[in-house]
Amino acid sequence: PLVAVLFGGRSPEHSVSCVTAAGVLAAIDPAQYRALAIGITQDGTWRLVEDWQDMHFDAAAMPEVADDGTAVIPPIAATGAPLLHRDAGGAITELGAVDVYFPMLHGPFGEDGTIQGFFELSGTPYVGSGVYASAASMDKHFMKIVLRAAGLEVCPWERVTDREWQADPAAVTERVTGLGFPVFVKPARAGSSVGVSKVADAPGLAAAFAEAFAHDHKVIVEPMVTGREIECGVLGSIHREPARASELGEITVVGDHEFYDFEAKYLDGDAVVLSCPADLDSEVADRVRAASVRAFEAFDCTGLARVDTFVTPAGEVVINEINTLPGMTPSSMFPRMWEASGVDYPSVVAELIRTALE
Ligand code: DAL
Ligand code: MG
Repeated sequence: PLVAVLFGGRSPEHSVSCVTAAGVLAAIDPAQYRALAIGITQDGTWRLVEDWQDMHFDAAAMPEVADDGTAVIPPIAATGAPLLHRDAGGAITELGAVDVYFPMLHGPFGEDGTIQGFFELSGTPYVGSGVYASAASMDKHFMKIVLRAAGLEVCPWERVTDREWQADPAAVTERVTGLGFPVFVKPARAGSSVGVSKVADAPGLAAAFAEAFAHDHKVIVEPMVTGREIECGVLGSIHREPARASELGEITVVGDHEFYDFEAKYLDGDAVVLSCPADLDSEVADRVRAASVRAFEAFDCTGLARVDTFVTPAGEVVINEINTLPGMTPSSMFPRMWEASGVDYPSVVAELIRTALE
């Protein structure tokens, strides 16, 4: 079968996606599948990437899918139609019909249901969650509404649009102040902490909103939760097999980062300690795992997700978010948690492809 791994894309998490894809491509068994590495440029052009092995984090030169004049042209709404390749001279050849898309795209136009809509239109199986689960999980405002409706604990929040902030900053400041400082200001639809700021007091809000509104016209503001940052990997599908939870991981931010920001996540190897399995009371760990599976099922997720939680000093499990296409880079928690659960990286990849094809 032909597996098309998609990465890069029109997202601030473009480079993270490239590094994740390099891991996935290396883990696909060539004896079983023919894999195509399809990078999507920042402008949205698809193209074949030959040198995907070279995609890794480097603060000075982050990996990027550059336009090289060629293109891969996906079929629109035509089940079984082949991908086409256009070379730099304009000559068109067929690459074959895709049996399964493996989107390793993070953030907008990849994790938010948009490309999943294209997979549905083209009648092609794909790894991961469907349109609604992806869209609802990506939008932190609607994500919390779904989680709360499922009886799960979430951190309180205020939703602020750029129109509201422009029209009446005093009213927004009053609403946000009601949450209690410090607060986190986050674009509603972004990942990897892109555009996120921690704000100590009301005068700090303007800069934080400017930063967040650069990524989305809707942001959410949350008070800081005191607790341990615990993550859980989930694999499964409500349609095909019961969801199961991994061993847990814990993130401890050390050094001078205020929180688990983009740099701490990917660029500064000394900024965080990732412990897996997390050293937690087994009763608490079971509640985190149960809450993670419930979150996965609340959205009708398929394939995979990583659920990020806070465990408060009182042992309460507060869900921070669910990520339907979690990072699978060398510094990412999702593959580590499955490794600790006895499922190594190639097995995770093989399971995702197999279940998507079933
Ligand atoms: N958004 C990043 C890739 C993650 O959740 O791992
Ligand atoms: Mg996220």
